[in-house]
Amino acid sequence: MSNTTQTAHEFESTSFGHFHAGFWVTLAMTAQLASADLFTINTKNTSLVLTNWNSIHQLYYGKTLANPADLQTVGGHKPEAYAARGGWNHFGGLGVVHPDGNTSLDMKCATTTVKTIKKGVKEHIFELKDAHYPFRIKLHYRAYHDSDVIETWCEFFNDDPKQAIKLDRFDSVAMAMNAPAKAYELDHYVSNWGSEFQLQRETLGYGTKTIQNRAGVRGSFGANPSFMLALGETVTETTGEVIAGALAWSGTWHVSIDRNQHNQISINAGINPANITYTLDAGKSFLTPKFVMTHSSAGRGQASRNLHLWARKHQLREGDRLRPVLLNSWEGAYFTFDQKLLASMMDGVKTLGGELFVLDDGWFGNKHPRNHDRAGLGDWDVNHKKLPGGIKFLTDAAKKRGLKFGIWVEPEMVNPKSELYETHPEWIIQQPNRPNLLARTQAVLDLANPKVQDYVFGVVDKLLSENPEIYYIKWDANRDFSHPGSTYLTADKQQHIWVDYIRGLYGVLAKLEKKHPTVIFKACASGGGRVDYGILNYCHEFWTSDNTDSLRRIYIQWGTGQIYPACAMAAHVSIVPNHQTKRSEPLKFRFDVAMTGRMGFELNPAKMSKTDVKFAQAAVKCYKDIRPIVQQGLLYRLVSPYEGTKNYASLLYTTADKSQAVVFGYCMRKMMSESLAPVKLAGLDPKATYRVKEINIDTARPKNRQRHTHLSGKTLTGQSLMQIGMPIQFFNDYDSCVIKLAKITPKPKAKAKAKKK
Ligand code: GLA
Repeated sequence: MSNTTQTAHEFESTSFGHFHAGFWVTLAMTAQLASADLFTINTKNTSLVLTNWNSIHQLYYGKTLANPADLQTVGGHKPEAYAARGGWNHFGGLGVVHPDGNTSLDMKCATTTVKTIKKGVKEHIFELKDAHYPFRIKLHYRAYHDSDVIETWCEFFNDDPKQAIKLDRFDSVAMAMNAPAKAYELDHYVSNWGSEFQLQRETLGYGTKTIQNRAGVRGSFGANPSFMLALGETVTETTGEVIAGALAWSGTWHVSIDRNQHNQISINAGINPANITYTLDAGKSFLTPKFVMTHSSAGRGQASRNLHLWARKHQLREGDRLRPVLLNSWEGAYFTFDQKLLASMMDGVKTLGGELFVLDDGWFGNKHPRNHDRAGLGDWDVNHKKLPGGIKFLTDAAKKRGLKFGIWVEPEMVNPKSELYETHPEWIIQQPNRPNLLARTQAVLDLANPKVQDYVFGVVDKLLSENPEIYYIKWDANRDFSHPGSTYLTADKQQHIWVDYIRGLYGVLAKLEKKHPTVIFKACASGGGRVDYGILNYCHEFWTSDNTDSLRRIYIQWGTGQIYPACAMAAHVSIVPNHQTKRSEPLKFRFDVAMTGRMGFELNPAKMSKTDVKFAQAAVKCYKDIRPIVQQGLLYRLVSPYEGTKNYASLLYTTADKSQAVVFGYCMRKMMSESLAPVKLAGLDPKATYRVKEINIDTARPKNRQRHTHLSGKTLTGQSLMQIGMPIQFFNDYDSCVIKLAKITPKPKAKAKAKKK
């Protein structure tokens, strides 16, 4: 496993921490602070400078600063690094109500600690104590040198041995910056079922802009918990300063960005405090989710690449593992299948060149068979009628064909028509004297309750233990909270459900990861309802959207890629007319769109024509060839479908060493006398020479419409491809191309000659 924060998910009732002492590679250095100490937290290209001036204040966040001491000479307003409510601050990221009713904090810095987590990852911890009350904050900054990412989060300690306190705000970050620019543009991502990650770009005026989720379970519907803030008027993909941020949390959340009369920008992000007062009992602590941030001085593209690199190296499960080409049975079979059909679908995916078959919903329930979404959820015994040979038959069938096998679960939910509900009606989220409101005829199980946590863990653990051949789990969650209450939580702590549910979920996933470390986990919540860096600490990938229409996917995936890496973004080729939009696009277009993520299928191969199968086989081969470039490469966005004519889109991935690249181009709407060409490429080695080759060609098309660039077969320098560009021609709506670039290395013969000389 490549990441540092995954293995030790020891959950206590009061915290959901990801760390244990074993992670601290070197000894911590803890020091009493002298006033006016300066702390510079550096990554490869950025500096965050803080100072101890009674409390901890933030002086600078931006491009590397060689002489941070100059900040003291320059002077000016010093906003608190983490603004808590108290004094002149009536808002703040943290709100505490002490037992005597006092609503303020007066935090002074007591100690600072610097730890090396691993090579290139350092953490600063500032411990702040209230001047009077037994209350403490630990403010964490973990800096990742390679990717210019800083994670920041807090722990709040109620050190009172006897009395509880109340928290009514508990942000992960509450930082302010002095007038970093004269103008600001905010990118955020509106997300809905079937229409996830719709990029919104707006000027940030004075006042507060809040994006949020208040749903509880599908935390990235409404909006994604992430944003990009462009500092200045001329920020582009490749130029200008950008701060990008993402909250690693799957429940209700808020991100609030405020521009005040002094032209100060504040960024607050955390669990949404709306409707939550959290009681912190005597001696207990509260750990916030992490806020992940990066600063780029080279435009929005670099901000995305920073997050992608950090995610692959440090956050995603096994971010460096190539993801398999899979077929998921949902759109190909829905609830209607038997063993025979599934075996034939396996034959199909094998023929196409796939590596994994995933059985979706509908395989369980006997008293209440899961033949539709109104029954059976909660009863995780294999349905004997559909699958008399059990899961074993399926894993054997997959093995026989040289495939891996995966399966769908939705263990957080229950249909009232289920044996589970008949036995444990008290296990669902509910409030007394209120009707149980259903959505998709199902209710949410109360993951704040340790018994329910054990049950949910048990369901998946049993499945995996009894069927060790299961390679992949698709973990779904298809509704949000209604009447949010718990029969487990006491009356005074009912509002904890919003927080404790997600902590419970993470605890279960952590235990599963520990026990079944090699199983791939996919996060799904009615499509992209759970796309966040919290869940992605426990999962390898996410289902980007239930909408598999390739035209819509161009926009959805463009938005998703702003924050999340391609290797985690599941993109499946489906049939036409598309089941969601009824639109029909050519198979090549559908492939060319899916190839920019973790490609797979969402169809029954038996229904494909011979010609389509032939094309698909070649396309899968193509994808496998470029898979390392896409899944592990660096993304450069070239032509945005959201900007300009909005008729074309183009993007490119390069390997980290720039030796290979692949360009994707799409025509959403063919216009006359309007050309896309030449597309200026990016991310190449200007001095290197590249061989250009169009791949994934549809040879069934008329010869003069098969190729989209006359550069195919030619060699050009990286500089020319970036400065002159690559002419791309499209012939009709939904036309597309994939073009591979490979650096030409000097022939060894030439080298030998050079040596002789
Ligand atoms: C959700 C998922 C789909 C599919 C169905 C099954 O909608 O997003 O991919 O798994 O549930 O019921």
